[in-house]
Amino acid sequence: MKIEKMLLFLLLVFLPAVPIETEVVRNWSDCPGFFVNQKPPEISNILVGGNILNQTRYKFICQTFGNMTRFLTLYDTKNKIPVFSAYRFTGAQPGRPTGDIWKIEPQLQKSDTPKNQATNSDYSNDQGYQRGHLYPNSHAPDWDAKLSTFTLTNAVPQVGTFNGGKWAQVEKRTKCYMENNCINASGKIEAFVVTGAEPGNERLNNKINITSKMWSAFCCHNSREGVWYSKAYWGDNVPNSNWRESSYKEMKTKFGIKIFPVNFCFSSSSCLDWREIGGRTHVLVSAEFTHESSRWIHKFKGFCHVGLCWFWKVTAQKLDPLEGESSVRGADYISSLKRQTHELLLGHSRLKT
Ligand SMILES: *[C@@H]1O[C@H](CO)[C@@H](O)[C@H](O)[C@H]1NC(C)=O
Ligand SMILES: *[C@@H]1O[C@H](CO)[C@@H](O)[C@H](O)[C@H]1NC(C)=O
Ligand SMILES: *[C@@H]1O[C@H](CO)[C@@H](O)[C@H](O)[C@H]1NC(C)=O
Ligand SMILES: *[C@@H]1O[C@H](CO)[C@@H](O)[C@H](O)[C@H]1NC(C)=O
Ligand SMILES: *[C@@H]1O[C@H](CO)[C@@H](O)[C@H](O)[C@H]1NC(C)=O
Repeated sequence: MKIEKMLLFLLLVFLPAVPIETEVVRNWSDCPGFFVNQKPPEISNILVGGNILNQTRYKFICQTFGNMTRFLTLYDTKNKIPVFSAYRFTGAQPGRPTGDIWKIEPQLQKSDTPKNQATNSDYSNDQGYQRGHLYPNSHAPDWDAKLSTFTLTNAVPQVGTFNGGKWAQVEKRTKCYMENNCINASGKIEAFVVTGAEPGNERLNNKINITSKMWSAFCCHNSREGVWYSKAYWGDNVPNSNWRESSYKEMKTKFGIKIFPVNFCFSSSSCLDWREIGGRTHVLVSAEFTHESSRWIHKFKGFCHVGLCWFWKVTAQKLDPLEGESSVRGADYISSLKRQTHELLLGHSRLKT
């Protein structure tokens, strides 16, 4: 038994990671299709106006697999963890590839001993840190896309119980939400997701900066409703951590990151905000719509039962209008929000039954 464990340990630690067919690109625009309105996030001191401030340290990696561009990573060669991975969610396939599938990025290297990135052996530890995906396997649309997520440039040292626990819940929750609400002009599921890691104060094996927080935000257009939706989440990378639901606007104040362009990506209620109240078909949802361009927050509460929904609370809070933007919204706007809430609630009750 002991010997078997030892062999497994040796196998895990010394198996070389195979390279992936990715490409380090100078400019994110050489790897298009992963940002809302073709606008990359703004990250204080790192990525400003679409330009990397320190090009020696930070690299854009166009993550390619099977001759297809899969997602885009901004990688920190000093900390040896990604800053973020950006991808387009288009629906997901179940399953998880197994075996020795973790890859490294050959173009970050000048020599055979990887100095600019993490390798599998750097992740060997008995402190419970795993290779936590930013672009998760569970959000990938097909098998090759799944394989493409297993690159160490898409991973951070993540506390195992957080990775398989609360953060896995965030991945499920956003998947559910996007599958039900992100419908593009072709009637297909489509959402833009950016998932990132905040560096911390410790290093794993004296090499990889251990992430203190993980965050994720998605944004999409629902063509049936003619509205944009967005939600952000974050959690501390510690045992017994929990996730918090946030808005991408709050991400700016909390992390100094402007993830999506203004005038896109309004917040709305999230997919699994329902609670059972009595019988199986009763659903209680609090729905919130934030209309970013005119800064209104609407809150609706209600429940649905066999195809009918009732609201007993509607609040509208008006915040400062954006410059040059009219904040006046008529009854049409309110009734359209009510209709969206109604359909959202119905969606939930259908999910439940
Ligand atoms: C990146 O590409 C964009 C659009 O092609 C361009 O405006 C920008 O100057 C480029 N940035 C750098 C650092 O080359
Ligand atoms: C840019 O990053 C490199 C590598 O991490 C570092 O040696 C250098 O001092 C940085 N330059 C600036 C201006 O911060
Ligand atoms: C990938 O593309 C290159 C050049 O376009 C081509 O030579 C190669 O055969 C392709 N490989 C696969 C697996 O399709
Ligand atoms: C809609 O999303 C699909 C992916 O699910 C994509 O292939 C298609 O180009 C998108 N259509 C439009 C009009 O954006
Ligand atoms: C991790 O990275 C952050 C941001 O670059 C830095 O402030 C911190 O000192 C790093 N921690 C360690 C232990 O290297």
